[in-house]
Parts: sequence; C-alpha cells; structure tokens
Amino acid sequence: MATEQKSPTVREVLRSLDVFAGALPRFDPQEVPGTPQDLFTEWLTEAITAGVREPHAMTLSTAGPDGTPSARVLLLKDVGPAGWSFASHAASPKGQDLAATPAAALTFYWPLQARQVRLRGAVAPESPELSAQDFLARSLGSRAEALAGMQSRPLDDPKSVSAATEESLARLEREPDLVVPEWTLYTLAPHSVEFWQGDKQRKHTRLTYLRSGDGWDQQLLWP
Ligand SMILES: Cc1cc2nc3c(=O)[nH]c(=O)nc-3n(C[C@H](O)[C@H](O)[C@H](O)COP(=O)(O)O)c2cc1C
Repeated sequence: MATEQKSPTVREVLRSLDVFAGALPRFDPQEVPGTPQDLFTEWLTEAITAGVREPHAMTLSTAGPDGTPSARVLLLKDVGPAGWSFASHAASPKGQDLAATPAAALTFYWPLQARQVRLRGAVAPESPELSAQDFLARSLGSRAEALAGMQSRPLDDPKSVSAATEESLARLEREPDLVVPEWTLYTLAPHSVEFWQGDKQRKHTRLTYLRSGDGWDQQLLWP
C-alpha cells in the first residue's frame, strides 16, 4: 500500500521560507550623511540599481477619527527638505483619515537589500497648484479613475467601472487640462526616520534620525 504524502501545512511552509537570502550590502552607521533625505536617496538609488520592483512603493499608515489604524501601499512622488510626498484623492478613506488625524507613518521595504525605512510625522496637503501639477502628470487612465472619484466605495456592479471610466475618458478628451480638485499631493514631514539594515545573523543595524530644531540627531537602536 502506497504511503500517503501529507502536504505541508501553511505553518510548515512559512517556517521553511528563507529570510535575507543572497548577499547583503554593508551599512556603517558611522559613515552616514547628516540628513535622512540624503541617506534615503542613497538607499533608494541602490534599490533601483539592483532592480527591486516598485522600489518607490511604500505603506502609508493612517488613523481614523476613533484611532482605528488603516494601511495601504502608495507610490512615493518626491523627497526633499520638506519631507516625503504622495498623492491621492482627498475623499478616499485615507484622505478622510488624514483630514481627521493629520499624521501618518510610511514604511519602505527593499527585499534584495534586506532594508527597511520607517518614517513618522505630520502630514499636510501641498498647494492646489502642486496638486494640479501632480494630477496632470498622471496617465490618462489614472486621471480618469480619479475623476470618477469612487475609490474604495462599495461596487455593486463591475460594469459600472467601465461605464464610469468611459465617461471620464470622454470628458478628459474634451477637457485635457481638467484637474480633479480633490486630487491632493500630501507631504509627510518626519520627526523620526529609521534606517534598518537586516543581517543574516540577526545582528540588524538600526539608525534613527530624530528632528532637533532645524537639524537631525542620530540614535542607534537595539536590533
Ligand atoms: C504598488 C501600488 C501603488 C499604489 N499607488 C497608489 C497611489 O499612489 N495613490 C493612491 O491613491 N493609491 C495607490 N494605490 C492603491 C492603494 O493601495 C489603495 O488601494 C487605494 O488608494 C485605496 O486606499 P484607501 O481606501 O485606504 O483610501 C497603490 C497600490 C499599489 C499596490
């Protein structure tokens, strides 16, 4: 009688997965630039060069009026002295969260380098002009979706999406400079930015930049 092969449980599969496979980069916290923007740009550039998919994707965590957290992935639009920027529809759940609680966390993960960056800080909308610029730089399909303005609402009939998209596309063809007024470029001004470099032996290196006046203090953290 053939012995029955038992397939592994999800738990067993999860336990068998490798973490931090392959060569990892060196990170010396003694040799870092004075601002988190500069170190972030170095790490982002290394992730892009190494071929990390969507290296500019990040998790935005917000809190609702009752404190309930929500998280979702967004694309980073810019990094500069003012902070880290992303764009979305102000009427979406995340936009409503940010209106109620104008603070958030951003988390990046670059698996090829075993690197994580975590930011926390206040979030403010940019000027309508900058939001409009961001909107007009989006693809036609993305602008049409934003124009429909239905993101995250319950969808009773999938056909409604095609109908709304066609209607929005026709409108954008007639009015190519149309800007959805709720489309908003937000900037998170971090009070802390943590750089986390994974290590196979679990001696991870963690360095946090903490806002101090106009500058930044640096603090190492236990792994
Ligand atoms: C890789 C990736 C990039 C995304 N980029 C954006 C973005 O830049 N802006 C946006 O509003 N949603 C983006 N989304 C969709 C969001 O994750 C989310 O589903 C949507 O914004 C609704 O979120 P909310 O219901 O919390 O408001 C992206 C999703 C993925 C997977």
